[in-house]
Amino acid sequence: MVSNQKVSFKTEGEIQEAILQEKARGTPDLEIGQKYGVTFRYIERLITRSQGLNISALKVSKEIKTLYPKNFKEEQTTVWSFKQRGDWATHSGEYRGNWSPYIPRNVILKYSNVGELVLDYFCGAGTTAVECKLLGRKGIAFDINDKSIELAKRNVDFNALSQQLTFTDGEKHLQIYEPELSVGDARELSFIEDNSIDLICAHPPYANIIHYTDSKEGDLSWHIS
Ligand SMILES: C[S@@+](CC[C@H](N)C(=O)[O-])C[C@H]1O[C@@H](n2cnc3c(N)ncnc32)[C@H](O)[C@@H]1O
Repeated sequence: MVSNQKVSFKTEGEIQEAILQEKARGTPDLEIGQKYGVTFRYIERLITRSQGLNISALKVSKEIKTLYPKNFKEEQTTVWSFKQRGDWATHSGEYRGNWSPYIPRNVILKYSNVGELVLDYFCGAGTTAVECKLLGRKGIAFDINDKSIELAKRNVDFNALSQQLTFTDGEKHLQIYEPELSVGDARELSFIEDNSIDLICAHPPYANIIHYTDSKEGDLSWHIS
C-alpha cells in the first residue's frame, strides 16, 4: 500500500537514515518519495553516496533458477526487441541503466567465436562478463568504480558446468573461462597488447543522465558535452 502521509524529521541526516532503512526493507521508491517528500533523483543520489554505486535495491536475491534464456533465438534484423530484460544466471536490473543480457549475448554470438577474447571497458555489474562465461568466451572487463567491480565479481562467481549450458562448440561442450575483472579507466588501455582482443562489447555511461558514482574522478557519467 502507498502511504500519502509525509513524516517529519528534525534533520536531513535523520531523513536520509530513515530512507536507507526503508530501502533495506525493500520499500518501493514511489512510496518512499511520497512518505518523505523526496524525489526519485534524491533517493538515487543518497544510495549512490552511501553505497558507492548506483543500485536500485539494497538486497537482491541471486538465487540462480536457470543458466540460459528459454527459447532463445539470435536476433536477425537491426531492430532488437526483448519481451523481458532477462534474469537467467545472476542477471538482474539492480545496477541502474545496465543493459539487458540479451544485448551482449547477441553481440558475442554474432561477432566472436568460442574461446576468443572479449573486452568490456564499461563493466558495470558485469553483464557482458557473465555472458562471456556462459558462452565459452574469455572475458576481461574494467570499470572506473571499485564498488562496481566488487559487485561484478560477485555476479560472475557462480558454478557452471559446461554440460549445463545450451551452447556447444560443435559437438563438444564449451570450455568455461572465468572472466578477469579489475578497476580501470576506459580512456587508458594502452597496456593491452595490440591485436589481442577479438571483440569489444561495451556499454558507455549515459552522459549526465544516470550517475554511477558520487562524482568520482574519471567517471564519464558526469561528463557534460
Ligand atoms: C551503462 S554502465 C555499464 C553497465 C553494464 N553494461 C552492465 O550491464 O552492468 C557504464 C559504466 O561505465 C563506468 N564508467 C564511467 N566512466 C568510466 C571510465 N572512465 N572508465 C571505465 N568505466 C567507466 C560506470 O561506472 C558504469 O559502470
